[in-house]
Amino acid sequence: MTLTAGEEAALVQAAMQARKQAYAPYSRYTVGAAVLTATGKVFSGCNIENAVYPATCCAERVTIFKAVSEGERRLRALAVVTHNGGSPCGICRQVMREFAPDLLVLIADAAGHVRRLTLPDLLPDSFGPEDIGYVTGAEG
Ligand code: THU
Repeated sequence: MTLTAGEEAALVQAAMQARKQAYAPYSRYTVGAAVLTATGKVFSGCNIENAVYPATCCAERVTIFKAVSEGERRLRALAVVTHNGGSPCGICRQVMREFAPDLLVLIADAAGHVRRLTLPDLLPDSFGPEDIGYVTGAEG
């Protein structure tokens, strides 16, 4: 899975823009993400923290849930931006696995340096829908 340089730049830019909306008063670690769907749509999101800390939701999951809740279940690539180019957490990797086992993940820092990985790089030997006999796409 590859993107054109233009698609990649646009996705990282969308994630940078979304990062500005981050609600992170507790950690002060602001995160933005953007996903490109198979139909060419872009959805973006930010981390949203909570005074009850476990209720926090990461930017990647906010973004993927926005896409899925709008009927977009096939995802091509996801960009995530933090000040230091931090990698997606394990819970978000598992959510990516559900909808895009071959997802391209662009991990960028605030200066725009981008690392390109795939979901199998980030979550090898993963557990997925097939492991519980679920045929992806059969749900309608
Ligand atoms: N965070 C994300 O949004 N994505 C990740 O993959 C790592 C962590 C958020 C959660 C929390 O608001 C803050 O970063 C510090 O953990």
